Amino acid sequence: MSNRPQLVIRDLKAKVEDKDILKGVNLEVNGGEIHAIMGPNGTGKSTLASVLMGHPTYEVTAGEVQLDGQDVLEMEVDERAKAGLFLAMQYPSEISGVTNADFLRSAINAKREEGNEISLMKFIRELDKKMDLLEIDSSFSQRYLNEGFSGGEKKRNEILQMMMLDPRIAILDEIDSGLDIDALKVVAKGVNEKRSPELGVIIITHYQRLLNYIKPDFVHVFMQGKVVKSGGPELAERLEAEGYDWVKEELGIEDETVGHAQV
Ligand SMILES: Nc1ncnc2c1ncn2[C@@H]1O[C@H](COP(=O)(O)OP(=O)(O)O)[C@@H](O)[C@H]1O
Ligand SMILES: [Mg+2]
Repeated sequence: MSNRPQLVIRDLKAKVEDKDILKGVNLEVNGGEIHAIMGPNGTGKSTLASVLMGHPTYEVTAGEVQLDGQDVLEMEVDERAKAGLFLAMQYPSEISGVTNADFLRSAINAKREEGNEISLMKFIRELDKKMDLLEIDSSFSQRYLNEGFSGGEKKRNEILQMMMLDPRIAILDEIDSGLDIDALKVVAKGVNEKRSPELGVIIITHYQRLLNYIKPDFVHVFMQGKVVKSGGPELAERLEAEGYDWVKEELGIEDETVGHAQV
């Protein structure tokens, strides 16, 4: 097997509290590719991210997800992380009593075999290097996980986790929301630094501006709980210029959101 990761999502459907949210998602992401999933609020984008990571609130009702040929839906949450899936959350949790450094080191070691844990020296070296690149203050590694962090600090922290954990497929959910332009550039720098054939990236966003700094290879429009249109970077530019209405008109979609009707 080559070391290029491959994530394949086929006809994925999921519901929460008896509401159908994902209604047949199809997507294939390979190593070296950056895919942007763009769509208005309430269309099911974060649900897709949660379902891929195995969040227990969501029930998968149909379809399949494979990572490197392995059945992801059969895996526990920790097995998914171990297999190389990573999610940078739209709303990261704050955890008091656990420092950022401890959290990261445990997360790295959880992915490794017993007896092959990262050495403290190597861990600190890597952490310093990456914090430097992301312009994160050095005091931060001893602060509690996300506690009292500003929105921008949390987002940088998510990217730091991605950089330290070396996933095969990274899903970044609204990593750009609430960021000023400088923070946005820093976040983009982290992602671009990691760009390689050994990483596939899904960037979920409803703005085009992040994509000025991270050039996607593919752009997908998400509505009604699925990918309704795909294209190249030019699609994101058109969405930025003209909004989403033309897509809805073209596809005959009246309400792009999901989750109100009890169907
Ligand atoms: N945990 C949940 N409990 C109840 N409803 C949910 C939950 N998560 C998502 N939904 C429903 O799914 C819809 C889509 O949400 P979400 O996936 O967050 O969309 P997006 O990320 O595109 O804004 C929401 O409007 C809501 O109705
Ligand atoms: Mg969302």
